[in-house]
Amino acid sequence: MVFYLGVNKVNYELEWIDTVWEAVTEKVSRTSKRIGATFPHVSIDGVYNSENASWWTNGFWPGILWLVYRETKEKILSETASEVEAKLDEILYDIERQDHDMGFRWLLSSVAHYKLLNRTDSKRRGLMAANLLAGRFNLKGNFIRAFDAPGREGVVIIDTLMNLPLLYWAAEITGDPRFKWIAIAHTDMVLRAFIRPDGSVHHVLRFDPETGERIEALGGQGYAPDSAWSRGASWAVHGLALAYRYTGESRFLEGAKSAAHYFLAALPENHVPYWDFRAPVTENMPLDTSAGACAASGLMELSRLVGEHEQTMYKNEAIQLLKALYENYKGSESEEAILLMATGNVPAKKHINIPIIYGDYFFIEALSKLKGHDGLF
Ligand code: GLY
Repeated sequence: MVFYLGVNKVNYELEWIDTVWEAVTEKVSRTSKRIGATFPHVSIDGVYNSENASWWTNGFWPGILWLVYRETKEKILSETASEVEAKLDEILYDIERQDHDMGFRWLLSSVAHYKLLNRTDSKRRGLMAANLLAGRFNLKGNFIRAFDAPGREGVVIIDTLMNLPLLYWAAEITGDPRFKWIAIAHTDMVLRAFIRPDGSVHHVLRFDPETGERIEALGGQGYAPDSAWSRGASWAVHGLALAYRYTGESRFLEGAKSAAHYFLAALPENHVPYWDFRAPVTENMPLDTSAGACAASGLMELSRLVGEHEQTMYKNEAIQLLKALYENYKGSESEEAILLMATGNVPAKKHINIPIIYGDYFFIEALSKLKGHDGLF
């Protein structure tokens, strides 16, 4: 009896994944015809608006296009992704308009293009981005600097973890391990300074850029310096799982598990994350579906890295999250976004309960992993 229930559940889930994948890829294909090679960031009144060229989220649209192209081989998707990649050159070759988000932009555009279609110019762009990211390393504090504004030389954020696969890729492709050592040094610093004993994480820390000493924690996009901004928590789950995948260092796996267990324990009953797990719950508490989607893709990554007796646990949690997000907050047919109710930055009062492109990216990436494929990080 239990056996049959199990089989039915698995079949039901496979059906759910396929149905949602169909709906999502159809929507991406339709949206690509309207927005073309632009930089979609948030969707307002059902349509994705384009950002300026330097915005950190500009790799997510080509990333979505490559994830879907990989299965459908629709030419318009690869052509549009290539066009966005070429437009990003404006930033790749302008040292004064960059930040640490080189991975979010060039892993999902150039490196994906290189891996799928073996394009030499895309490989070169990926290597250029990796060199620029490596160049942001502060040897004294063992951290990668996040932003370029004067006075922010020692500001470090949890999000950087997600950019590090660009360095692991560069180490592999060039045979030069120095890229990998920088990524590992930064990740060890994250374990020491960002991850709290209960698995929750800081968003922002400030170090003295001369001595490397930690000065203070800042609230960043979270409620307070000691709160638990949910997207930051998801960056930690996913980023540490990736660090373990690339290095095989068990301390990174332990860190990823600890961040994952905190994330899962902090979810409200309906499994849709609030914007901060440690902010006072108010009547119209902002949600962040993007944190849920990024964590789900990270949990899928984890499920592939742990021993056979733990795999199902992380995979089931990922499925439960994806279902909760989609069944409660999927965009309607007339909405270009896949997921509603993501939140960009509550303290800045910017983009609250609105569809945001990275929520869509990670939702599609997690689905793609459930269909047996790799992600693009
Ligand atoms: N990386 C900035 C954010 O997650 O909003």
